[in-house]
Amino acid sequence: KSIYLGGSGRKRPLISTRATLLEEQARGRMSAEAFAYIAGGAGEERTMAANRSAFDNWRIVPHYLRDVESRDTSTELFGDRLAAPFLLAPIGVLEMAHAQADRAVARAAAAEGVPFIFSNQASVPMEETAACMGDSPRWFQLYWSKSNDVVASFVERAERCGCSAIAVTLDTTMLGWRPRDLDLAFLPFLRGQGIAQYTSDPVFMQQVSERPDSGRPPEAPLNHHAIGTAIAQARNVPGPTFSNLKSGKARRAVQHFIETYSRPSLTWDELAFLREHTKLPILLKGILDADNAQRAVDHGIDGIVVSNHGGRQVDGAVATLDALPDIVRAVDGRMKILVDSGIRSGADAFKAIALGADAVCIGRPYAYALAVGGEAGVRECLQNFKADFDLTMGLSGCCSVSEIREGSTLVESSAS
Ligand code: FNR
Repeated sequence: KSIYLGGSGRKRPLISTRATLLEEQARGRMSAEAFAYIAGGAGEERTMAANRSAFDNWRIVPHYLRDVESRDTSTELFGDRLAAPFLLAPIGVLEMAHAQADRAVARAAAAEGVPFIFSNQASVPMEETAACMGDSPRWFQLYWSKSNDVVASFVERAERCGCSAIAVTLDTTMLGWRPRDLDLAFLPFLRGQGIAQYTSDPVFMQQVSERPDSGRPPEAPLNHHAIGTAIAQARNVPGPTFSNLKSGKARRAVQHFIETYSRPSLTWDELAFLREHTKLPILLKGILDADNAQRAVDHGIDGIVVSNHGGRQVDGAVATLDALPDIVRAVDGRMKILVDSGIRSGADAFKAIALGADAVCIGRPYAYALAVGGEAGVRECLQNFKADFDLTMGLSGCCSVSEIREGSTLVESSAS
């Protein structure tokens, strides 16, 4: 109600309520490189497009005359009561969108009662971000480092920061093939952006101080870097540089980050290490099929995020909403199911929940809102999601999140 009244001639909103327009607003606020990094996907961006079109395969069927005057959008997740079934997906390098980066997002998330999943690649150390949130719920997203000592250190820090869960991202053991970044020969980490989570870590920095100082760029330990450099050379434009990293220690930190940030050799058995090191619920982010979901259950995992990283990793990967129904059937209530990739409105969230998800993660829209309006922009973005969700729920004849899941409010569009 306040969004409608506020928007009718008195106070114009900071950000567009339409996702596509919000993206255009954000484009105007960022460098070409920053916008490409956030907006881009893998390959021809077919999975990115499929994430969106999958929502069109389902149509909402409203039920009327059910007394929907009083509604409750809240839900419980791992002991936290959430205002609505939304979380903020982990997004690294938010400094590209706004100088306040994670701090602004954290304040907005806390004000709106939406958990913020801190990225392992965050621009701000988790301790500082957590300090912006009071008692509001927050999670930590982990990229499994080559060093288990670093993994253990991150997890201990997350526990001390009051995180309610750890989400291990499985789909980014290497960066995907991302033509928009490759064409600009751009990778934020090579400029030292998005590694503060590491440089604020005592174990990581101990390792940095112990490594022999080669003082030169890595010899292509990361495919992406090698490719970016090759393209830059071929086009005779400046390649990734270390020029803005002044101290030798900072240079070594970037180099060490690139060499250790992920472990492509990770296997299911190694998840036991994490289980031994934390009592927090563990989620696996990036699951896209029923078999892997079943394996997660078998390994005592507490939840999954059905995700294809916003179509940024494997071009041609299955759309998350297409993958969801099979996964929900296989899991059969034995662990929590979150979904992201392509969620652009409260109505999208409604569909994901009607198909059996417990909650959804908002990704790019809040990064764009941050670029356009800082903390206030992210708040508005969350308010819009919540209001649209509440309206869709009420207009469809549901008074609560569980009624959405139980009621037959969706049909496949071919049948409609
Ligand atoms: C991401 N995502 C991501 N995921 C993760 O586990 N750790 C991370 O550090 C990041 N970083 C990141 C940066 C940027 C710029 C984007 C756009 C995405 C993926 C993110 O958590 C989520 O899965 C997707 O954003 C969901 O897709 P949509 O809804 O943004 O299309």
